[in-house]
Amino acid sequence: MEKGEDSSTFKMGNSAQERSLPYVPDCYVVPPSCEPCDSNSEILPTIDVSRLKGGDDERRGVIRELSLACQHLGFFQIVNHGINQNILDDALEVARRFFELPAKEKKKFMSNDVYAPVRYSTSLKDGLDKIQFWRIFLKHYAHPLHRWIHLWPENPPGYREKMGKFCEEVKELSIEIMGAITESLGLGRDYLSFRMDENGMQVMTVNCYPPCPDPETALGLPPHSDYSCITILLQNLAGLKIFDPMAHGGSGRWVAVPEVTGVLKVHIGDHVEVLSNGLYKSIVHKVTLNEENTRISLASLHSLGMDDKMSVPCELVNDKNPVRYKESSFNDFLDFLVKNDISQGDRFIDTLRIKD
Ligand code: OGA
Ligand code: NI
Repeated sequence: MEKGEDSSTFKMGNSAQERSLPYVPDCYVVPPSCEPCDSNSEILPTIDVSRLKGGDDERRGVIRELSLACQHLGFFQIVNHGINQNILDDALEVARRFFELPAKEKKKFMSNDVYAPVRYSTSLKDGLDKIQFWRIFLKHYAHPLHRWIHLWPENPPGYREKMGKFCEEVKELSIEIMGAITESLGLGRDYLSFRMDENGMQVMTVNCYPPCPDPETALGLPPHSDYSCITILLQNLAGLKIFDPMAHGGSGRWVAVPEVTGVLKVHIGDHVEVLSNGLYKSIVHKVTLNEENTRISLASLHSLGMDDKMSVPCELVNDKNPVRYKESSFNDFLDFLVKNDISQGDRFIDTLRIKD
């Protein structure tokens, strides 16, 4: 490592990616991945979710597709989701303009406190994790909107209104998809309705990945899965890669997710893996970089309430199928985040598994 260039040199506000350094400091360099990357994106399931509102047969068909996607990959793309393209474009635009604000304005939100409802930071756990990531982010709680929106950035003008509209629409979509997921597990459409709609959490992660002078050596985000039930993702450019664990006879491969205008991505998170007692897998994903363009992504993480614990439903347990996971809440995940290093591959879901 070059003298004086450990992670603490690049603390938030002073990170290489915020300063557009023309080189990648050593503390950003990740070991090369040994799994092959296959850009064959044809294996990615795409689901037309408008059919969830169709007749019974139509709905059953979608739910079958969704169940297969959740079992095999823990990831699917959605089309005909009903969110107007203007709302998607406006949200990406105000996000981009936020990151273009002068440092002084963004620093108002700078925080390393993972429990803060609104915070601006860089990397993963800025300056603390062994490896730094080429990422800048703003995270804010979003549901119920009226409880949090006054804490969001006032600048750029229109941020609250446009991001707020997007959050509301995505929240509604998440309810539709979670209803289909619980139905697909035989639990019924409303199994989690109250706990997700009225009392559920929505964390909006607004990510910015500036151009990187040596994109092969660093990452925007390391391989991880989300703690959420589901995450709905919007991006302006490709860069997301998901891990298909069954490929190559079980050794796995990375698949690049292409950007197609208007298509949203859904990640199955750790809490749906628990809900399904392991039938559905939370997807491991990472973010790669590029040399030319700034990539913006909006990841909306949907879960139960802060202290509401997700546990394996008794309906899914019998002699052959014992409980495979301990119960946990969003708050338990935050406690995990403080004590562990995701950049070293620590996963929340691994702490929940009950050993045979
Ligand atoms: C995340 C995440 C992916 C992306 O914020 O958890 O995985 O494409 N983001 O930015
Ligand atoms: Ni993620």
